Amino acid sequence: MKEIVFATNNAHKLAEIRAILGTAFNVLSLADIGCHDDIPETADTLEGNALQKARYVAEHYHTACFADDTGLEVTALGGAPGVHTARYAYPDRQDTEANTDRLLQELQHAADRSARFRTVIAYIDAAGKEHLFEGIVHGHITTQRQGTEGFGYDPVFASDESGLTFAQMGVQAKNRISHRARAVARLSEYLLIDH
Ligand code: IMP
Repeated sequence: MKEIVFATNNAHKLAEIRAILGTAFNVLSLADIGCHDDIPETADTLEGNALQKARYVAEHYHTACFADDTGLEVTALGGAPGVHTARYAYPDRQDTEANTDRLLQELQHAADRSARFRTVIAYIDAAGKEHLFEGIVHGHITTQRQGTEGFGYDPVFASDESGLTFAQMGVQAKNRISHRARAVARLSEYLLIDH
């Protein structure tokens, strides 16, 4: 079976990708290949960060690999927080509640509350060729938190398709339409059908 490294140690993301690719690929995590480094993520775009992580693994471990990066892009904020989504409230740490509070605050007087989640996956194949895959889900930012499931901005992001926040939809329904699921589907289509 072909091996491919996913540059993450996030158990949820690994389970999701293994469920899709598991029969054709042995998907290894960073821990599985003995990588405990703090891989730099210093680019100013999602594409840049995903490529930076994938290149790091390809260069140090000489293996086919992929990495992802996700951002919330809000129209009224000119696409922010974008690449800064994880650390929107504080540049040095991830605080979900503070991030959400800041977002609601920034949009207090906004007429246009439209937003999208965008995931970029960078894949570097065994020959060193780089590929990018994207997944987008469109929606809007609600005026207050709704729902209890999920993580991150889920309580304030309502998808156009369901009209509900991701936190109200539940994980299974969310995972059928999410930005990450869509990017993963593009990657797996490429890997399973063509390669
Ligand atoms: P990452 O690139 O997957 O680490 O995502 C960056 C940040 O985007 C996370 O820290 C979350 O704040 C946010 N995020 C990513 N995906 C989701 C999601 O599905 N729901 C809510 N927030 C998300």
